[in-house]
Amino acid sequence: MTLADDTVRLFFALWPTDAVRGQLASLLREPLRQLPGHHVPVANWHITLAFLGDVPVAQVSCVEAAGAAASAARFALQLDSLGYFRTSRVVWLGAAQCPSALSELVSGLRASIARCNIPLDARPFAAHLTLARKVNRRPALGSVPAFTWPIDSFALVESTLSPKGASYVVRQRWPLRAASADIAG
Ligand code: 2AM
Repeated sequence: MTLADDTVRLFFALWPTDAVRGQLASLLREPLRQLPGHHVPVANWHITLAFLGDVPVAQVSCVEAAGAAASAARFALQLDSLGYFRTSRVVWLGAAQCPSALSELVSGLRASIARCNIPLDARPFAAHLTLARKVNRRPALGSVPAFTWPIDSFALVESTLSPKGASYVVRQRWPLRAASADIAG
């Protein structure tokens, strides 16, 4: 058995519904037309909450338990700006404000994942949805119309790499708690 058979490449993500993908794609049609680099297919758009990398199959149940243990209220994420990461050469759609429920979700996941002895990137979380890769220098980034994404779940996603790029399969989804106002109403 090769190493590749023994591991799965995993990450936790905010995974848009098809309806949200469609709305975002039409809103971004114009800004995307001018964007250099390799555009990420709309079907692959997501926001990574925690990237685990190659996880030994024996540890996957611990990762699933980490997903089940994470708890946060539903929230709305306002995506409102374009940005560029020079080190990873990606252009992304991001949010000027990180809702507290999103920070709680990420910190809860990170704490549970650490208990599985899986190392995580130490860099602080920056919510971003990668739109284009292999962008060699910072392009002119115009403005984008703000889009409010209502989020009521998160997902554990498996990634398979190939020369054609990454392909993703959602393995599992967990619901977020209804906000107290929703419960009262
Ligand atoms: P990115 O979009 O900014 O590249 C699946 O690879 C997802 O995990 C991507 O959204 C990617 O973020 C994120 N990710 C975080 N750290 C990563 C790493 N070290 N290698 C690959 N992907 C990583």
